[in-house]
This record gives sequence, structure tokens and C-alpha cells, in this order.
Amino acid sequence: MHKDLKKILIDEKSIINRCLELGQQITDDYKHDVEPPIFIALLKGSVPFLAELVKYVNLDIELDFMDVSSYAGGTESTRDIRILKDLDRSIKGKNIIIVEDIVDTGRTLLAVTKILENKGASGIKVVSLLDKPVRREVTVEVDYVGFEIPNEFVVGFGLDYAEKYRNLPYVGVLKDELY
Ligand code: PRP
Repeated sequence: MHKDLKKILIDEKSIINRCLELGQQITDDYKHDVEPPIFIALLKGSVPFLAELVKYVNLDIELDFMDVSSYAGGTESTRDIRILKDLDRSIKGKNIIIVEDIVDTGRTLLAVTKILENKGASGIKVVSLLDKPVRREVTVEVDYVGFEIPNEFVVGFGLDYAEKYRNLPYVGVLKDELY
């Protein structure tokens, strides 16, 4: 697995340190709210990031998960997405933090945000391990960004290629000949 990478972009220690910083920042931002936020992680890529991040969030948060897949032939501004796994609980009137591994075109995030708004969430923020702004096709706000990265094909720490490499403890760039 490790030999398939041409370089490490973000090493394990840097990811853990950044999760600590983000966790502290989120704790600080929500500490005066009566109700702590619900973290909604989008399967599957966000799982390792979620697991690391929430260790450093010192609030009585809850976790929930959604799995969505994009529809071919979606409209121009918002990709139509299909919900493969929906939330377990109502989020009406709740503060939400969406947890992503990467924001690329921004279309998934835009569509999920609309779904959560329709479900009655009162405040929605976004935390993403990685942000690739150069690829953006729609405007979305990412409130907490782990690392801004260039337009390279990255895998690891949740990110896959053909469902592999999610368990790498760092983020790296796959060798060109492998994809
Ligand atoms: C990836 C990633 C984001 C989305 C970002 O999910 O986890 O959800 O793509 O791309 P976008 O900004 O262009 O919409 P994917 O559908 O590959 O699922 P996965 O998390 O199971 O890998």
C-alpha cells in the first residue's frame, strides 16, 4: 500500500496536531451554546478524520452519519444526490457540523447542506480535513479547514482510490501509473 504513493503530502503527526487545533476551536466556538452541535459525517471518507477530531472536542456532542451518492445527469448548480443512508434522528432546530474528508467541486456539500436545511437544521457549519479550492465549481463555505491542498490525486486518512488506501495514516499522492 505505502509503495503505491509517490509522496506524502501531510504526515500523521501534522494531521493529529491539526485535529487538536480544530477540536479546540470548535469547542471554543460552541461552548456558550445551550445545546452542543450534532456532528454529521458523510460516509465513508470522513470516518478517520471524525474519529481523530472528536477526541479534542470538549462538548456533549452527538454523532450521526449520512451516505449519499451522486446521480449522473444532475443539474448544473446542484448535483442531484441520492441518499443511501439517512440520519437516525431528527435535526429540527439543531446546530449541525457537517464533517467531510475533502471539499472538491463543492457539489456534494451544497446538496447535503440543502437536505439538512430542508430537515429544519437551525445552524449548519462545515469542517473538512482537506480543501481543494482550485477545483471548486459552486460556492460553498467551509468554516473549519484542516489543510488547503493543490490539485493532486490524494489518498489516505479516509480518502480512497477504488475503495483502497482509506486506512493509510497520512495523506499522500498516488503514483500516476496507478490511476
Ligand atoms: C468524496 C468526498 C466528498 C466528495 C467531494 O466522496 O468524501 O464527499 O467526494 O467531492 P465534491 O466536492 O466534488 O462533491 P465520495 O462520493 O467519493 O464518497 P466516499 O467518502 O465514500 O469516498
